[in-house]
Amino acid sequence: MKICIVYDTKRIGKATERIIKWMAAQAEDLGHNADIRKPSEVGNFGYELFIVGSPIYYEKPMRSVVDFLRSNSEKLSKNKVALFVICMAKLFGGHGLKYINKRYIKPLLTPVENSVVDIYIFKGWLLKPDYKQETESKDWLQSVVEMVLNQERSMGKESDRITI
Ligand SMILES: Cc1cc2nc3c(=O)[nH]c(=O)nc-3n(C[C@H](O)[C@H](O)[C@H](O)COP(=O)(O)O)c2cc1C
Repeated sequence: MKICIVYDTKRIGKATERIIKWMAAQAEDLGHNADIRKPSEVGNFGYELFIVGSPIYYEKPMRSVVDFLRSNSEKLSKNKVALFVICMAKLFGGHGLKYINKRYIKPLLTPVENSVVDIYIFKGWLLKPDYKQETESKDWLQSVVEMVLNQERSMGKESDRITI
């Protein structure tokens, strides 16, 4: 499967870049092809799966990522999209989750709502890497890929039924 991971960050080499590299490594280990792109670097939409995400700074996902989803929502309506955010608010449990959904995820979700197969919230860090996120990012990547493959299989079955 051809996968495009789209992200941005204000801090080179920190949580976001570590997490997307873990995802890409997992994709390659599972025999898939994963390209990593900044929003401005996405030149074609010939991927089966877009994984798009942003860290949260000052209560918002990054504008570059939101703008990417908004300005390409029509093209992305033909792709599968999985969204993620990376933030600290996850530490605050149930109350935090409601807040994350409303303030952090909604701006990303709204432009591509009909294409989204899954959403994940990763816990970021300031200084010391959280290696639990390695397992979480790899497990999530795998489950999203399986979800897309299963959907493709059942779509294939449906179209078979129509042709018979
Ligand atoms: C300047 C700054 C502002 C932040 N603001 C928020 C915030 O409003 N809400 C939140 O949950 N996390 C916030 N965080 C935590 C980040 O989401 C977390 O550190 C994440 O790992 C950032 O991604 P990065 O490591 O790629 O920079 C902030 C971090 C920084 C450095």
